[in-house]
Amino acid sequence: MTVRRFDNKVALVTGAGQGIGFAIAERFAAEGARVIMADIREDLLSEAAASLRAAGGDVSEHQLDVSAAEQVDAVIAEIAASCGRIDILANNAGIAKEEPFVEIEDQQWRRMIDVNLNGMFYVAQRVSRLMVQQGGGAIINMASTNGLVGEAGYAHYNASKGGVVLLTKTMAIELGKSGIRVNAVCPGYIQTPLSQSIDSPETVERYIEQFIPLRRTGTPQDVAGVFAFLASEDATFITGECIVVDGGQLSF
Ligand SMILES: NC(=O)c1ccc[n+]([C@@H]2O[C@H](COP(=O)([O-])OP(=O)(O)OC[C@H]3O[C@@H](n4cnc5c(N)ncnc54)[C@H](O)[C@@H]3O)[C@@H](O)[C@H]2O)c1
Repeated sequence: MTVRRFDNKVALVTGAGQGIGFAIAERFAAEGARVIMADIREDLLSEAAASLRAAGGDVSEHQLDVSAAEQVDAVIAEIAASCGRIDILANNAGIAKEEPFVEIEDQQWRRMIDVNLNGMFYVAQRVSRLMVQQGGGAIINMASTNGLVGEAGYAHYNASKGGVVLLTKTMAIELGKSGIRVNAVCPGYIQTPLSQSIDSPETVERYIEQFIPLRRTGTPQDVAGVFAFLASEDATFITGECIVVDGGQLSF
């Protein structure tokens, strides 16, 4: 039996075209939410939205580059006009790239911060304003284990995700009085098009053997379930928290 925790709720998911964002949208839709899928890539987005609609989901889509504040303003205004509210924000869109610290070009540094941190801020702030007016909501920001501990080759990514962790805690402190809960999810190694573009299967096998107690990488669904928990009535006294979903990796 599918639990339907999100009947009559409106959920916005960024980066919903593939990977973890798609799994989050799929989970919210399966549990009854009206899901608004946003992604910078229209090709991925329309295919992803069509597949959820075919499965019976109540979904709509908006092309959106989260790093462009004016696009965020326009999309949130459109959603406010069409749905009247946003109950849940899965602030997931992000990018990653492996580069030695001394070789990162300024432009690459800026793009990483623009998408992963500035974009997270633009979307979270605009949605929060709507949630304050409507009297509550749940925001889940996508961080990473790389926002909690360092990893060589990812200085810009780690800095952006560390920023997301403290953005989350500060938002939780300021928005609690308005009935808005703000949490972060910190995944470890999850198999998605993003991680597959960085590591070969051999590298992943070695990584699992060396670093992951549960002896497998995570799936997008492993992460989507935690987003759903944090958005649900089961998490009504949880805010400012960062939940690690890493198969035990940070236990070392
Ligand atoms: N895969 C992992 O191992 C892992 C681990 C920790 C955290 N994360 C985080 O999870 C999130 C999703 O990662 P994923 O692995 O599913 O990646 P992915 O590349 O498979 O999917 C990311 C989606 O975000 C979209 N996107 C990229 N830039 C965007 C922008 N500027 N505006 C709107 N959409 C944009 C992409 O088009 C894509 O559909 C990211 O924030 C990532 O940092 C991933």
